[in-house]
Amino acid sequence: MFLSRTAILIGAYAFNVLASSNTREPSQDVLRDDVTHGHLDLTHDLFGFHKNLTQIESISGNEEAVGNWLFESLSSQGYNVEKQIVAKDPLRFNVLAWPGSKRDAKVLVSSHIDTVPPFYDYKHHNDKTISGRGSVDAKASVAAQIIAANSLLQDNEINPDDVSFLYVVGEEVGGDGMRAANDLNLKPSTIIFGEPTEGKLASGHKGMLSFKLHAKGKAAHSGYPWLGLSANEVIVTALAALMELGQNLPVDEKFGVTTINLGKIQGGVAHNVVAESAEALVAIRIAQGTPAFMRNETTTAINTAISKFLKKDQQPADILDIEFSGEGYSPVDIDADVPGFDTFIVNYGTDIPNLKKSVDGQKRYLYGPGTILVAHSDHEAITEDQLQDAVGGYKKLILHAAGKTSTVDTGTFKDSL
Ligand SMILES: *[C@@H]1O[C@H](CO)[C@@H](O)[C@H](O)[C@H]1NC(C)=O
Ligand SMILES: *[C@@H]1O[C@H](CO)[C@@H](O)[C@H](O)[C@H]1NC(C)=O
Ligand SMILES: [Zn+2]
Repeated sequence: MFLSRTAILIGAYAFNVLASSNTREPSQDVLRDDVTHGHLDLTHDLFGFHKNLTQIESISGNEEAVGNWLFESLSSQGYNVEKQIVAKDPLRFNVLAWPGSKRDAKVLVSSHIDTVPPFYDYKHHNDKTISGRGSVDAKASVAAQIIAANSLLQDNEINPDDVSFLYVVGEEVGGDGMRAANDLNLKPSTIIFGEPTEGKLASGHKGMLSFKLHAKGKAAHSGYPWLGLSANEVIVTALAALMELGQNLPVDEKFGVTTINLGKIQGGVAHNVVAESAEALVAIRIAQGTPAFMRNETTTAINTAISKFLKKDQQPADILDIEFSGEGYSPVDIDADVPGFDTFIVNYGTDIPNLKKSVDGQKRYLYGPGTILVAHSDHEAITEDQLQDAVGGYKKLILHAAGKTSTVDTGTFKDSL
């Protein structure tokens, strides 16, 4: 079902939401639940909520069902809920929710509802672990965040106007959901991002630049290689130059070393044919400097190395394309100034650079249950204790961000996975 029972459309062109021929910016469309509940009927069932969320497959691009479930769940708990359309075919939307009268509350709690492929079924095991795709990344964060806020609201530790939630699509594939969220014009003083951080506060993560190399050779019989140009030799030479560059980049005091991953290589057709074409996918985790600097460094290193293959009047681009995936981003500093948490640096990317700072001095925290070490694997799993501890952690963060004194005992994090 596309709309909930009580959903209405707002906005001058709202009807276009339902029309596929519309060409306006999708993110201007907003579907809003017409909530007049006046009271909250909050769930405190952490494991049930986590299960309901995790058992719905939501591989990036296919988030509609999980988005609808979350919309319905929050709406039936009495939250005001809005869908922000990110794409229409297939339908993909962010979910914004707030329990009080302020859509733009001072504490914004956020995470993502998409997962990487493939889907693995939800299972709750006898040894108190819970496995399944998204059980950690990031549905553990979503569940713990909502249960934490519900508990604070129930106990009147925060005011309903203190908090709102933003759950986005597309985090695992470049962040189109979070980039669209910039159009919501929210101005929270604190944003709490949920990703697996082993119950610690992340004080930063590396930057990122990724690209595809495509070597363009000329096929020939392998007995007469001088009649052709081996795309495989061109790409291997370029990749060797990148490996060497990786050994010679500056080390950053906070973020450590920049790492270059040669993620995928393919080329050629047979052992006795000079390869006509070869491709490689490369991802750089930037510890120091900007993506523009790394772009220049990699291009210079590659072009210098492959110059030995160039014939008269040829340019490097004639035999090798470097296709960058977007602009990339610099290393990200994250606030980690809440007492009572261990802090560390994470080596994975998040949606944080995709959401522009909308207020001077806006605080950003990154925290969540479970470890990234299992997150994208076939054995993604979390323990009951980790999930439960994160409810305490989020309560503490929300209270801190709302300017309330924490009376919450967050317990000790049990790292048993
Ligand atoms: C989970 O889904 C079941 C089945 O629809 C429902 O009965 C239950 O109330 C849900 N629990 C939560 C916490 O969402
Ligand atoms: C790019 O790198 C080359 C070689 O290291 C250097 O000479 C040049 O100044 C750099 N350009 C920019 C824009 O950083
Ligand atoms: Zn994630």
